Amino acid sequence: MAKTSSKTSLHKEISKELIRQVKTVTRKSYAPYSKIQVGAAVYCANGHIYTGCNVENSSYSLTICAERVALLKAISEGEREFQLLLLYSPDIDRILPCGACLQVLNEFAPRILIATMNKKKEFYFYPLQTLLTKPFRISR
Ligand code: THU
Repeated sequence: MAKTSSKTSLHKEISKELIRQVKTVTRKSYAPYSKIQVGAAVYCANGHIYTGCNVENSSYSLTICAERVALLKAISEGEREFQLLLLYSPDIDRILPCGACLQVLNEFAPRILIATMNKKKEFYFYPLQTLLTKPFRISR
């Protein structure tokens, strides 16, 4: 397992295919307002990959982040076991998920590893728990 926040050339789950897919989906980003393109690829325990891009809206707060698009596509196909989420933006160096996406990821994949890739194809790894240390939970 990669170290927290470590910079590593390649992690075992990050295949050339995962990189290819995250770059492809980033180009499909709909971001006419921010002009920030984001792509995400979720790698499932069974090897399946689901991708998503950010989809903005003229009513700005209705914008959906790339991570949630990718994860919810996977959930709606019945996937429940996730190993890694790869994030990429050509516009933000070492992009990380926003708080809302961390909370949604925590619902389904509290142990997921988040990898962010920069334009030089360098990878930085963050277990979800290190980015969201105190998730909201319903306790009665
Ligand atoms: N965005 C993502 O897709 N993922 C994040 O984790 C942070 C932000 C998108 C939303 C919006 O389209 C653009 O980046 C600027 O906020």
